[in-house]
Amino acid sequence: MKIDAILTPAELPALAKCDLRETLCVVFDVLRATSTFVTALHNGAKAVIPVSEISEALAFKNAECGMRNAETILLGGERDGVRIRAALTGGTDFDLGNSPRECTPEKVRGKTIVSTTTNGTRALRACAGAKTVLAGSFLNLGATAEFIARLQPAEVLLVCAGTREDRADEDVLAAGALCELLEVGSSRCDDRTVPRAVPTKLSDSAETARDFYAQAKSDLAAAFCNSTNARRLLAIPELRDDVAFCLQRDIFPLIARMEADGAIRRQLT
Ligand code: MLT
Repeated sequence: MKIDAILTPAELPALAKCDLRETLCVVFDVLRATSTFVTALHNGAKAVIPVSEISEALAFKNAECGMRNAETILLGGERDGVRIRAALTGGTDFDLGNSPRECTPEKVRGKTIVSTTTNGTRALRACAGAKTVLAGSFLNLGATAEFIARLQPAEVLLVCAGTREDRADEDVLAAGALCELLEVGSSRCDDRTVPRAVPTKLSDSAETARDFYAQAKSDLAAAFCNSTNARRLLAIPELRDDVAFCLQRDIFPLIARMEADGAIRRQLT
């Protein structure tokens, strides 16, 4: 299994021109889009539909209005980290921001969330042509590794969504942790019939991610909290607890897969 990685969002536009038909992509926007989507699915959301622009989210909701289940659609996402408000949309307040802690069972069970975020949803959309697209986070890392180990795709591409135009350390740390799990095997695999370790060949950028994680893992919280995104969130009182939340490892053993219709759903194993 070849594992490659995109470490900065500057590489995303080129993805549109790549042939990803045989590739499994794992998209990481650990702070916070993919962590939020995984949490929403764990808490009973039917699906999350990532879209790039606010106008696309509004158009999706409007198209549902007057049709079957408009009330089951929630608009979610952020600009500058905070919930999208009427001033940005010409009148519509979004139902949710981009905090995983907002996605409680009471709010999201049975709902479809249409979400637009600064980097995460764009990175997911950029992978739409891939054979398999997964939303990855520390919250579901073990389950994601186990799924890949069982599937053994020939090509894996780890896509770090980043922050605005820059690399985001927390995404690279999660990508590196996944490389390590695939190379040395996951403890979750011990009692299962999946291979303990998968023969892998890492590209230079995947090795960079793996080595970055290996250096940081003895004090992952420190490396994580020192990232630009974590410092930004820690400075906003109502969002600071998102950082510790997203750092939790394997609390949701689920696979979040973007299907051909563009919706991310919980994949049954
Ligand atoms: C993004 O998509 O850029 C992030 O998830 C930003 C955030 O949550 O603040």
